[in-house]
Amino acid sequence: MRVLLCVGGGIAAYKACELARLLVKAGSQVRCALTRAAQKFVTPLTFQALTGQPVLTDLFAAEQELAAGHIALADWAEIAVVAPATANLISRLRMGRANDAVTAALLAIPPRRWLIAPAMNEKMWASPAVQENLGILCDRGARVIGPAVGEMAERSHVGPGRLVEPPEIVAAVLRRRDLEGVPVLVTAGPTREALDPVRFLSNPSSGKMGYALAEAARDRGANVTLIAGPTSLPDVRDVRLVHIESAEDLARAVDEHIAQVRVVVMAAAVADQRPARKAAQKVKKTEGKEVLELVRTPDILAGLGARKVHPLLVGFAAETQDVEQNARDKLSRKQLDLIVANDVKDAFGKETNRVVVLAKDGGRAELSGTKIALAHAIWDMVRSRLRA
Ligand code: C5P
Repeated sequence: MRVLLCVGGGIAAYKACELARLLVKAGSQVRCALTRAAQKFVTPLTFQALTGQPVLTDLFAAEQELAAGHIALADWAEIAVVAPATANLISRLRMGRANDAVTAALLAIPPRRWLIAPAMNEKMWASPAVQENLGILCDRGARVIGPAVGEMAERSHVGPGRLVEPPEIVAAVLRRRDLEGVPVLVTAGPTREALDPVRFLSNPSSGKMGYALAEAARDRGANVTLIAGPTSLPDVRDVRLVHIESAEDLARAVDEHIAQVRVVVMAAAVADQRPARKAAQKVKKTEGKEVLELVRTPDILAGLGARKVHPLLVGFAAETQDVEQNARDKLSRKQLDLIVANDVKDAFGKETNRVVVLAKDGGRAELSGTKIALAHAIWDMVRSRLRA
């Protein structure tokens, strides 16, 4: 793992030295960048000695930019760890400032690759400004770890604000690759069931949850195949993307890939019915009552569950009432390992969601957050159930 460790200027910066050492010990390649304030607490030389690599401190130092400047480091990094993330650094990141080497490098790294470990006095942590700034960074996809609760540097102060201990931060960094080489199949988006060459039945699924699942799995090292119905989302980098239109196309595409995968996550909002016939030409208005005959589409997931041998199966239950009970019924009826249930009345198209995940083995978790954060939490649950 190539880790860019960005150190902010708080007293917890001394723990960033230990963090650098532990990351190196865990086999990561580590490069460090320090803010000017960080250098009041720890020196670049400390990090250079611990990592064996030059440290970025100055945007305008010609020799630093020549060796590996902020953009080169941003391109190189698979993950950027911001530890300690001070109130000031968090606010600069929220604003997109690029007024030093740390913020300039981070600005060139997508926030979903940031792991932010805040550390500050508990009163500063409680301020609406810090909370709002961090909330926005989360909405952009950043992961946050901590702060931990305990004694502050000012010994009379106790509360949330301590930097999470370095071994825990290392675990969070490494967790990213816990699906290395695991072949997974994710389906996403709506299906379209054609009535004639210009009309179809569909639903408002945006595909965002499925795309987030594909992205999260890719970032954790999985080999991802994403089968997607029509969406307006940009293609996901480094995943095999298969575009489909109808439930039957989806069934066929799943069938083609199923033998090679260990996990199937069916986040697609598959149509349960399709028009019995697709007219060859645009259907004309007729006098009197117009009736549309529908037939059922194959239940792809239930079909997989019924097979004697099948990959780990994750279904979604989009419900408008009795969410958990309906999901529990689906979990057993479709013979799934996990089901992710949500109330769809206000979920379609949004960046965030609130779900309940139920497992065949009795596990249950209530999750809420951005779709990318949910995706990681769902993969955590899948990972712990995957046989070695
Ligand atoms: O029964 P319901 O449609 O609510 O089940 C939802 C789950 O089943 C989702 O994971 C969906 O992708 C999957 N499904 C399917 N084939 C269908 C309908 C739904 O695989 N025809």
